Amino acid sequence: MKTREFGGTGMKVPVIGQGTWQLPEKGKDRERAIHALHRGIDLGMVHIDTAEMYGEAELVIAEAIKDLPREKLFIVSKVLPSNASYPSTITALEKSLKRLGTDYLDCYLLHWRGHIPLTDTLAAFEKLEKDGKIRSFGVSNFDVDDLEEALDCLTEGKLACNQVLYNPSVRGIERNLLPFCRKHNIALVGYTPYGGFPGKGDRRLSVLKELARKYDATERQIVLAFLIREQGTFTIPKASDLAHIEENSAASSIELSPADLAVLDQHFPAPDRDTPLAML
Ligand SMILES: NC(=O)c1ccc[n+]([C@@H]2O[C@H](COP(=O)([O-])OP(=O)(O)OC[C@H]3O[C@@H](n4cnc5c(N)ncnc54)[C@H](OP(=O)(O)O)[C@@H]3O)[C@@H](O)[C@H]2O)c1
Repeated sequence: MKTREFGGTGMKVPVIGQGTWQLPEKGKDRERAIHALHRGIDLGMVHIDTAEMYGEAELVIAEAIKDLPREKLFIVSKVLPSNASYPSTITALEKSLKRLGTDYLDCYLLHWRGHIPLTDTLAAFEKLEKDGKIRSFGVSNFDVDDLEEALDCLTEGKLACNQVLYNPSVRGIERNLLPFCRKHNIALVGYTPYGGFPGKGDRRLSVLKELARKYDATERQIVLAFLIREQGTFTIPKASDLAHIEENSAASSIELSPADLAVLDQHFPAPDRDTPLAML
């Protein structure tokens, strides 16, 4: 699995990680999901993305990682905006750690911007980092103006990550946000990589199929390879199916040629004007 330095933290993180939103929480499906997470970790997808908002996902992850060496994993969770005051952020982190069965997070994010002043949340993140409860911190669903404000609030810490919606059909971030993140050495983690994946009869599916044939890959792998083509980018597909996990992990070694990137550009064009940041 290919890795990249993560947002100035010095940590090497796999370019393809594992999302956990809507992970099955009950019965046999939960067991399957645990097995799949485990397999993903074995294959190098040690970046596990979760959130206090994702139901029991943190508990399911805890089961998957309980016998694994903690230092090999890169675990990210997120605080809800409604819990993002200084004291509630600290409490929310403690609860996430308890559910995950660990004593630190590798990165802690504000899930999206709410009404609580950013200074409060970021001061709590800086304190948690200083206390060794989190190794880095960042935000999610922030556009350039929000990031600028966040950077201004920092006293000693560093913004390591911005997690945003990014897939071939939603490429607005490439105009301003991605260059801004690169300039400030903020890791750009793209979520929902398979959003807008073309269905049967869509011309764009034939384009992906053609490229897949050329790279001895699958259409989904071409999508992931496209999303991690730029320095500083990461992607976190969610899969609870073992075959999907194996397929996703193998995409990190695909290097699309400039000519093939141009083909994708033509069929999945980035917007030609600034657009509001898309989010789920
Ligand atoms: N920060 C935020 O606001 C935010 C918002 C949304 C998501 N996220 C994070 O990003 C992660 C990923 O996004 P997402 O869950 O919305 O969507 P996604 O990863 O784009 O898609 C997940 C769906 O794709 C299927 N899938 C995965 N690999 C596949 C493959 N190789 N072939 C065919 N189907 C495949 C999964 O099926 P199976 O499960 O059956 O394998 C699942 O139905 C989330 O889980 C979450 O951790 C963050």
